[in-house]
Amino acid sequence: MAQVPVQKYFLGFFIIFQVILGYHTALSADCQGLSSEVTCTCDDFGHCERGTVQVDPWLQNTLRTQMDVQLDVPFNHAQLLDAHNAYNTRPYGFLYGANDTCLWPPPYDPSLCIGIANQEFSLTDLLNMGIRGIELDNWFCEDEMRIAHLGTDIATLCNRRHVVFSEPVAEIGAWLDNHEGEFVRIYMNEKFDQGNDAEVNGPFERFLGDRVLTPANLKNDYNNEWPTLRTMREDGKSVVIAHIATAGTGDYYLHQGKFIHPGFWKDKKRNEFSNYPQCGGKNATNALRFYSDSTHYLLDNEYIDGPTRVGIIDDFSEFIKCGIQFPAGDQVHPQLMETAAYTWAKGEPATPITDSTSCIMLSGTDNRWYTPSDCNQELYYACQNVFDTEDWTLSVSVGSYDVNTQACPDGYRFALPQNGFQHQKMLEAIDGADVWLNVAPLLDDYQPPVLPTTAPTEGGAQKVTVVISVVVLAAASALFIL
Ligand SMILES: *[C@@H]1O[C@H](CO)[C@@H](O)[C@H](O)[C@H]1NC(C)=O
Ligand SMILES: *[C@@H]1O[C@H](CO)[C@@H](O)[C@H](O)[C@H]1NC(C)=O
Repeated sequence: MAQVPVQKYFLGFFIIFQVILGYHTALSADCQGLSSEVTCTCDDFGHCERGTVQVDPWLQNTLRTQMDVQLDVPFNHAQLLDAHNAYNTRPYGFLYGANDTCLWPPPYDPSLCIGIANQEFSLTDLLNMGIRGIELDNWFCEDEMRIAHLGTDIATLCNRRHVVFSEPVAEIGAWLDNHEGEFVRIYMNEKFDQGNDAEVNGPFERFLGDRVLTPANLKNDYNNEWPTLRTMREDGKSVVIAHIATAGTGDYYLHQGKFIHPGFWKDKKRNEFSNYPQCGGKNATNALRFYSDSTHYLLDNEYIDGPTRVGIIDDFSEFIKCGIQFPAGDQVHPQLMETAAYTWAKGEPATPITDSTSCIMLSGTDNRWYTPSDCNQELYYACQNVFDTEDWTLSVSVGSYDVNTQACPDGYRFALPQNGFQHQKMLEAIDGADVWLNVAPLLDDYQPPVLPTTAPTEGGAQKVTVVISVVVLAAASALFIL
């Protein structure tokens, strides 16, 4: 047998490699649609390759701050920016809309276009932009659990070229590996019980593992009450997975309840939302997710148009102001994410927040946060009612920045709004004044005060006495009536 010199092989590979590279570079220069509005490396279809979108660090830090202000809120009341059908995204290729022709935003021109993708950017990029709610539609077909839209029909909807379920789960796990202290909620939108529990639980176990706050954790470690984000962070829990009851049957598909919770929110179409103060029926106790729909496709010779049927979200600000837990956008991109920002002004914090001497000023002019160089200037303080988180007022006097100020009226304390809704209530109360905001909740060593929830009491003993007296009194009156 004649021997072929190694160099010859090497040269052959080298040429092939160069050809592929040249071909690829030529095509990847051409980014299409939303991918052309960001800086990234595009694939052959013209969409940003996974993890290549450059996201403004100011945006990332601002949205991170807006998670951190919620640290003392129970998980089921926390607000997470959400991506509707996050898995149905063009970087996954042709079956996920890489060849879509509808141009964002709608109304679509031409109206005979095809748009089967809900997202333009990969899960990694969506997470990098600040998305924390991820929806995964799992369908079992051709011997594997996969991610697919709308069904298991092998001819059209789910086949062996569809991405296996473990892939997006691994992607989320890898992102969390590199992003300490972040939170992700995964929404499993399973339409009927498909069994194959190991195909769902296996990837969760492998790629997310102990980071998941499981139904068993909720029961055994937290007494069936959702812990605050701060407690979750301390306990190393960063992922909550849930399925919400399927419309019609009211059934939950929890795959033995090993990782998946019965969901605690109600899903609504974007068209059912109304701006602040109506807020689409949001109140202090319920949890709502409003989802949009960008898809546009032929079904039985008719175009199904998501934007008119369901609505689109082209601005998050009203959802933020309303405290909607999960505003779920389609075609999520950095400019949309920026509409969710309500805290830091552009370029802020100019001075890093390090300790309790770091000061934050809310500007009454643009309603944004600043770190002024002079923490000794005299301003009012933002004061929150200790019994009612929606009730805000100005301090009775002005003063230089002081986390321990006693300038708030009786029953109020110097505070930091814990979400966009409280922030809005504060803005209405302070009426255009520049005020100090309490930096303490953003500091690593912060211990949240134990606040009374209904009436003032002097410690636990008295509370118990009150409860006992009420019970005794009630029993006595019952006897009297009888
Ligand atoms: C995508 O569309 C282009 C033309 O628009 C076509 O040439 C190409 O074959 C399509 N790709 C696939 C995988 O169908
Ligand atoms: C909040 O709205 C839900 C419906 O979403 C309703 O059932 C509940 O009674 C409301 N709660 C309050 C306190 O108004």
